[in-house]
Amino acid sequence: MMVDLRNSNVHVFAPATVANVVCGFDILGFALDEPGDEVIMQRTQESGVRIASITGDDGRLPLDPAKNTVSACVQHLLTHLGMENIGVSITLHKHMPIGSGMGSSAASTVAGLFAINELLGTPLSRAQLLPFAIKGEELACGHGHADNVAPALLGGFTLIRSYEPLDVISLPVPTELHCSVVFPHVDVPTREARRMIRNKVELKDAVVQWGNIAGLVSGLYTSDYALIGRSMEDVLIEPTRAILIPEFYALRQLAMQAGALSFGISGSGPSVFAFTRSRELATQITSRIQEHLDKAGIGSNGYVSGVNATGPKKL
Ligand code: HSE
Repeated sequence: MMVDLRNSNVHVFAPATVANVVCGFDILGFALDEPGDEVIMQRTQESGVRIASITGDDGRLPLDPAKNTVSACVQHLLTHLGMENIGVSITLHKHMPIGSGMGSSAASTVAGLFAINELLGTPLSRAQLLPFAIKGEELACGHGHADNVAPALLGGFTLIRSYEPLDVISLPVPTELHCSVVFPHVDVPTREARRMIRNKVELKDAVVQWGNIAGLVSGLYTSDYALIGRSMEDVLIEPTRAILIPEFYALRQLAMQAGALSFGISGSGPSVFAFTRSRELATQITSRIQEHLDKAGIGSNGYVSGVNATGPKKL
């Protein structure tokens, strides 16, 4: 494969994501405008992938290139391209909390893969980078789900129609759709949040769930906001995971009473999110959720965002 090695460094951003989108466990996700992670990647004389530094992680992420998911994925990609002789050093700036349910590991991994691909003169398409990003999720939490990495890499709203073979569909995003996201300061690692889910489901629950998924996808295609809202119900996963999220049902009531279209867990939690039809309402809902958590003695980070159509970008 021919690659262009003229670039010696690149600085990129990759977005946070909301996975599952309530009813679509492991198959639906969308990208946020903010927050997101940044990677600065530099060519080095000596071969191999190094982590130069990481900021914003409170020292929680490994600097060992074999253990860090960003460097491990970059190395995996270089090996796949037969370019093990290339050397790069990675600086990772984390701008979002780890273990928040906002696709923190996905944003870092996608930033790393997007950066190395740019540095090499884009030998692969974004879709071709996806399997490497899924590998990163496997390293980060023990399971290679794609509902964070697909929207982080492709932007917009994505559907994983199938994992084997991988079949990812980009869905349309109604123009007024905005999102309020709040991360309550409690620890819910994805690995643990996946362990607690039942493996078997009742047929009657499956019927409710696939009706809702079809309704949500339909609503996105037709910009039917009411249909989007009433389809965002999860009878399979949320009842179990909500237990880990402080004030979850009170927050839902608060968001819906304030005029949200829907409310649910972002990814595996503990972040929660609400869809609205305006940025103003999303801003109000973020503030109200944070005030409620504050009164309950729980700190939080709040965000307001549209759906990010771009995905990763060069800075
Ligand atoms: N679909 C994944 C899960 C997303 O719910 O475990 C993790 O962010």
